[in-house]
Amino acid sequence: MAFAITSTLLGCGGEVEPVAPEPTETLAWMESHTDDFLSDRAWRRDRLEETLWRPELPYAKKLLDNYGLERGGWDLLPVLDVMVAPVHGPLEVEFEGTPVMAERPESREEWLALGERVFWSMPMRRDAYLEWVVANPQVWDDVGLTRQEDGSLRGFVRYMDPRGRAKVGITCGLCHGAQGEPGHADLDVDLGMARALYMNARGLDAAPFDAWGPGRVDVTDDGITDATAIPNLWGASEQSHFNASGVVRVATPASAAVRFETQYIINHAFEVRPDRALPWALAMFVMSLEAPETAPASSSRGEEVFGQLCSGCHDPARGYSGGLIDAASLTSDPLVSNSPMRGTGSYRVPSLLGISSGGPYLHDLSAPTLEDLLDDGHPAGAELTEGERDDLLEFLNTL
Ligand code: HEC
Ligand code: HEC
Repeated sequence: MAFAITSTLLGCGGEVEPVAPEPTETLAWMESHTDDFLSDRAWRRDRLEETLWRPELPYAKKLLDNYGLERGGWDLLPVLDVMVAPVHGPLEVEFEGTPVMAERPESREEWLALGERVFWSMPMRRDAYLEWVVANPQVWDDVGLTRQEDGSLRGFVRYMDPRGRAKVGITCGLCHGAQGEPGHADLDVDLGMARALYMNARGLDAAPFDAWGPGRVDVTDDGITDATAIPNLWGASEQSHFNASGVVRVATPASAAVRFETQYIINHAFEVRPDRALPWALAMFVMSLEAPETAPASSSRGEEVFGQLCSGCHDPARGYSGGLIDAASLTSDPLVSNSPMRGTGSYRVPSLLGISSGGPYLHDLSAPTLEDLLDDGHPAGAELTEGERDDLLEFLNTL
């Protein structure tokens, strides 16, 4: 299975044999382990430990100290029955919510349908600045928020917190649901600006947030401004590691479920945990996502150049993703790879599935187009001939 392979690849060479991503195997594996995840603490603990391959990092420590313990920890948190409602305007204080999960799914279709609902409507994070954004519709356009056909704001929901207070939360669909397509990174969403506007309105220092720019989010609390790009999720089932610095190892698809469950707990101030069926369904759904179809290239030349120069890292059999690469050997800015919270000294090789849907590219969005990326000498500074460059571009635009 693709997700069981972890390797550190350098260099190049080899024939390119593109293989369409095949989520069926992943889903079958998940189906055979549903009961383990839902009811076997020791099994979940093992999945956590194999996922956090750098246990000494503060991010990993927090999870290891609290998740899947024999006694105590986050397993004892109350389970929140999440009731949600769409956000149509700034002032809906009273609302009638519907539960994210009406009943526990039984078939694959039902699990995927629940995962899709979780993706679009589970409040994965709350924050005072998000409440402020919703209450100030004059900033919605500037912050890159989108109204859906029914007039609701994509990626925002109202929900009841455990103390019965109405709150605003954001869903996966805000950042990973551009144009209503699940998995598609929304690089127009500018949460740095949202936070800066909120800080200004409070008379506080907005400088760190001004530096993020659209499509980038600083997901760490490490005291440095190291915002990273929102990634497409289409290649998630093929990735050996999640996040630019690869801090989360995708040992099995359960790594995704553990990550989503713990992320929810952390982002809700350790007050509640979701019913475990929710992160499990979400992981199934995310692992099933596929990039939009594209037209084939007019010749195989670009694919051949890719086989010579790129496939040593971007493995076509794994959605053009790969293992971890020492950041010092790349032309990429190493800052994020050295984050005190999550730095591993490396960048993982991202999947290239869906890159033709648009840039900017790289973990910090520093390459506006694929042309720029190649002209800047990615990965390690080598120059291409004009022919190689043009052939490669044609091929990359079919991914
Ligand atoms: C506020 C925007 C935002 C929201 C909301 C959000 N994400 Fe992300 N997501 C990011 C960013 C930014 C990264 C990259 C982090 C990094 O590189 O360190 C990321 C990374 C990921 C990854 C790793 C992908 C990879 O290949 O590295 C997965 C999987 C993922 N998110 C799934 C989700 C799911 C599922 C949800 C809903 C529970 C969600 N995200 C909500 C911004 C967001
Ligand atoms: C030594 C390994 C290696 C080789 C060889 C390599 N890449 Fe990469 N590639 C990476 C890594 C690591 C990243 C992530 C770097 C970052 O985000 O800063 C990356 C990122 C990318 C991205 C950005 C993807 C995104 O979603 O933003 C593109 C496009 C890309 N590579 C194309 C290529 C092409 C084309 C070639 C051949 C000319 C190539 N790569 C060769 C390691 C490699």
